[in-house]
Amino acid sequence: MTDEIPATYAGPQRVLSGVQPSGDLHLGNYLGALVKFARLQHEVPTFIFVADLHAITAWQEPAKLKGQVREIAAAYLATGLDPKVATIFPQSAVPEHTELAWVFNCVARLGWLDRMTQFKDKAGKHKERASVGLYTYPVLQAADILVYKATQVPVGDDQKQHLELTRDIAGKFNHDFAAPGFFPLPEPLTQGPGARIMSLRDGAAKMSKSDPSDNSRINLTDDAETIAQKVRKARTDADPLPELIADLAGRAEALNLIGIYAALEGRTAQDVLTEYAGQGFGAFKPRLADLAVSVMGPIGAEMRRLMADPAEIDRILGDGAERARAVAAPTVAEVRKLVGLWAG
Ligand code: TYM
Repeated sequence: MTDEIPATYAGPQRVLSGVQPSGDLHLGNYLGALVKFARLQHEVPTFIFVADLHAITAWQEPAKLKGQVREIAAAYLATGLDPKVATIFPQSAVPEHTELAWVFNCVARLGWLDRMTQFKDKAGKHKERASVGLYTYPVLQAADILVYKATQVPVGDDQKQHLELTRDIAGKFNHDFAAPGFFPLPEPLTQGPGARIMSLRDGAAKMSKSDPSDNSRINLTDDAETIAQKVRKARTDADPLPELIADLAGRAEALNLIGIYAALEGRTAQDVLTEYAGQGFGAFKPRLADLAVSVMGPIGAEMRRLMADPAEIDRILGDGAERARAVAAPTVAEVRKLVGLWAG
């Protein structure tokens, strides 16, 4: 065992998360992830990146990718991340992510990756045509997290399995290289009603960038009228709202709208239900529309303002990348030593 490494992780707490620049951001991304970034930055050193290397596991138009990266950065800033407080950067600007990912490719087992449901969903019926990168995607995600020795990872529910894999990789690395406390076993932060926002058209499907129906989601860049219209058109049922969450069983669309309302106001779903019990969607939807417009409208406007000055966004991302590398590089140097790679 290396002398300096304690038996359990004893390093600083760090928050890390990222979003892929592969399409418009929506309410699910906001409530499942972004809203938590802004809150956590004041509690724990926070690293938030734009996952451009993950985005290219599916085809991205090269001429558009940089613009997509800037748009995610603008969304981070518009939802309250402060570049003086949090470290905001593009993933591909910190090559230590990919270097650690290769080592982790040699730690993770094929059987572990074969279980990843997101690969199965994304690859679809013709998995032989999916990129190899899409398959090893969760290994790069583990490297994103562990290169900063992050301890907390704010994400939506759909990322829980990737976090379990990250913990498995961290545990196996620590064990195989006789360095028990080297990597922490990071925790996903998925608490709250925003962890799994469903489609506005189908309460059984996740709200998603790739849903062909734009009415299924509220985009961060939608204007007030579009937001209100999408809420009005959201699928619901004819029954009044009950007093207890348990009584919403089997009413997925109703439960989703209550959850959205609660997450937008930072309340519990039960609390919202108590307020609206006995009322129908004719009364509830206009209130939800007003709330969504009042929260989302200013975010879209601020994103448009920030996007008008790409040089300033690039400056913020360049500065963040430098700060990120200062933390990531020592981790990779230690990994090189532990693994026995050429360290110069
Ligand atoms: P991505 O870009 O698909 O989504 C970004 C974040 O949004 C959350 N999310 C949702 N939350 C609630 N309801 C929904 N309908 C919904 N849809 C998406 C996601 O859970 C995510 O938190 N693999 C990641 C990006 C990534 C990453 C990382 C995250 C790469 N490396 C390291 C954390 C740590 C992804 O594809 O997110």
